[in-house]
Amino acid sequence: MAERDGEIIARGYDQVADEYEALESAGKPWPRLERVRAFAADLPQGSRVLDIGCGNGVPATQELALKHEVMGVDISEEQIARARSNVPTATFICGDARDVDLPVGAFDAIVALYLIDNFAREVYPAFFRHIKKLLKPNGRVLLSAEPGDDPWQTYTWLGVPMFINTIPTDELVQLLQDAGLSVASNEFESQLEGGRPIEYAWIVAENPG
Ligand SMILES: C[S@@+](CC[C@H](N)C(=O)[O-])C[C@H]1O[C@@H](n2cnc3c(N)ncnc32)[C@H](O)[C@@H]1O
Repeated sequence: MAERDGEIIARGYDQVADEYEALESAGKPWPRLERVRAFAADLPQGSRVLDIGCGNGVPATQELALKHEVMGVDISEEQIARARSNVPTATFICGDARDVDLPVGAFDAIVALYLIDNFAREVYPAFFRHIKKLLKPNGRVLLSAEPGDDPWQTYTWLGVPMFINTIPTDELVQLLQDAGLSVASNEFESQLEGGRPIEYAWIVAENPG
């Protein structure tokens, strides 16, 4: 992702912070909180967890921070400001997840929820190798991504230009495996976004060491 793409994405998420929050209806919550709970259920208390593309920290970072030492990373200053206020016990870095400096081999678990749709597909191999390096041996990652085959380009999303890319899930799974991660599960679940159903793949992968 070129610097300019990063600027467009950061500015977009700054501008749509309220609209993004409003996409999830209280009566029909997205599956992310239950997915995060299941993913983290057997993590020992005090594990080190990284939330990449953490957004405003609600609900995933907040849930993880109840029991763990959590770090959140996001490219949008507005999202990070909200996350700091919503989850005061976690630490946050505002930066581009592709090249931000993070401790290697330090994390028991990583979550990246609805993030990689904002990356060009070409970035995935290097990003997944990076995730593997950040994980401890036997550490695991939870990813969600919308299945599809849409090209990397700007679309108008919530009224702002936003870079979005989708990939067939079998190709995504292959890229994770090519990066040395072992895919433990891959499930599809639909959620309502502003009343519209959108399906996501939910993938758990492990670092065999
Ligand atoms: C769809 S939101 C998901 C937010 C949160 N994970 C959630 O569950 O709602 C995608 C988030 O990824 C962030 N993001 C997109 N590209 C990024 C990048 N290159 N580096 C860091 N964060 C990025 C955006 O700013 C945004 O907050």
